Amino acid sequence: MSIERTFSILKPNAVAKNAIGSIYSRFEHAGFTIVAAKMLHLTREQAAGFYAEHDGKPFFNGLLDFMTSGPVVVQVLESENAVQRYRDLMGATNPANALAGTLRADYADSMTENAVHGSDSLASAVREIAYFFSDDEVCQRTR
Ligand code: TYD
Ligand code: MG
Repeated sequence: MSIERTFSILKPNAVAKNAIGSIYSRFEHAGFTIVAAKMLHLTREQAAGFYAEHDGKPFFNGLLDFMTSGPVVVQVLESENAVQRYRDLMGATNPANALAGTLRADYADSMTENAVHGSDSLASAVREIAYFFSDDEVCQRTR
């Protein structure tokens, strides 16, 4: 195990339901350190570039409609084994399959409006962090 960074988005439905603080609390209680954070309203181009791996899939346009429907909060989370631990905290993509106690079980409204994003691998995390943050926007934290 080693200290990793992973990339996270609070999607528009999570922001719209005033759950930013509650979800940040869940990050902190789960042992993640938030080392970068900002709010932004994605353009369609930004959302399409971020989700490029899904371009052409049947849900792609609906996903872009949703992701551009309101502001999001993006953050970098740091912990041991952060990529897998944060996937576990989020729960399954389809909230119908998300285990009790996961973020998607608690905050998702549907498969598309599933409240949170998390990188699926260390390589994805590196790409996704760089997509939204410059090096000097990611802070070093001491605990
Ligand atoms: P994916 O990368 O498969 O899921 P995850 O977010 O768990 O890594 O898909 C990206 C997003 O696309 C997913 O969070 C919600 C949306 N999506 C749909 O709307 N319908 C679908 O059938 C799938 C697979 C994903
Ligand atoms: Mg994914």
